[in-house]
Amino acid sequence: MLKDPHALITHKEHWKDYYLFTLESPIIASQAEPGQFIMVRVSSLSCPLLRRPFSIHSVEGKNIEIFFQKSGIGTSLLSNKITGDFMDIIGPLGKGFSWSQHSKTQDIVLIGGGRGIAPLYFLSQKLHSAGTTPIIFYGGKTKDDIPLKEKFEQKGFTIYCSTDDGSFGFRGLITDCFKDQLKNLTPKQIFACGPEPMMKAISQVAVKRGIPAEFSLESVMGCGFGACWGCVKKIKTKAGSEWVKICEEGPVFSSFEIVWEEQEK
Ligand SMILES: Cc1cc2nc3c(=O)[nH]c(=O)nc-3n(C[C@H](O)[C@H](O)[C@H](O)COP(=O)(O)OP(=O)(O)OC[C@H]3O[C@@H](n4cnc5c(N)ncnc54)[C@H](O)[C@@H]3O)c2cc1C
Ligand code: FES
Repeated sequence: MLKDPHALITHKEHWKDYYLFTLESPIIASQAEPGQFIMVRVSSLSCPLLRRPFSIHSVEGKNIEIFFQKSGIGTSLLSNKITGDFMDIIGPLGKGFSWSQHSKTQDIVLIGGGRGIAPLYFLSQKLHSAGTTPIIFYGGKTKDDIPLKEKFEQKGFTIYCSTDDGSFGFRGLITDCFKDQLKNLTPKQIFACGPEPMMKAISQVAVKRGIPAEFSLESVMGCGFGACWGCVKKIKTKAGSEWVKICEEGPVFSSFEIVWEEQEK
């Protein structure tokens, strides 16, 4: 884990509530792996005190990117930052996707819902440079919620989009779009990130069809590096299940490890 108090914002883009920042942070860029995240100090004031977690969206030389949706006080403050500002970040944190084991596997599917697309771009970069071209599924409520569609297209990836209101692509949930495409596809590995109900639905399909799948979980995080126990979730083990710190043991877990919410009751 590294601390970079002077990560320079070199580029900023935004689409309605979604923001993409390029940060110059050579030290964190050199060690980052897909599925890992950084903890960002959103304000130089004491409130909000806690850093906020964001997936590493891409790595390009000495730069990393983060892609986030404005959803509360911390992300609002962050969205006000401008090119030339410095950010205080800690990372890379957590255990990411097991992408290197699959670098020769074809028919890899990446499924992102809303802001959950964030870690999948870095994963697609790594897979692509290892010789695998993943197939992308990207869903949002409306066409404004899938702003990274062109970014994936520019890389030459096949991308299936869905919107709940039908304003772009498949009308309905990305899980239904994915199930529909299973007529034509035979995925050998799934990597997904998004709202928990989306990931749970994909996990059920994956288990039923025997497709290995990994999911990046979210949890409210106090520290991001194992000190506060704020992020625990129940994970299946050989002995049954145990509470683990998502920030250290995850945030990525396989479908066989995750105890989805209703299963807990
Ligand atoms: C490992 C990890 C990676 C993440 N990567 C990204 C990313 O790449 N892009 C992105 O947009 N978001 C990401 N998130 C979620 C992001 O951290 C939260 O949206 C952010 O912390 C909210 O801060 P806030 O101060 O704006 O919201 P708050 O004012 O604190 O809360 C606003 C709303 O967001 C919910 N919320 C707060 N923290 C979290 C959280 N950690 N997870 C889920 N919901 C939360 C609250 O319950 C509330 O409903 C990630 C979360 C984790 C755990
Ligand atoms: S966020 Fe503090 S222990 Fe995980």
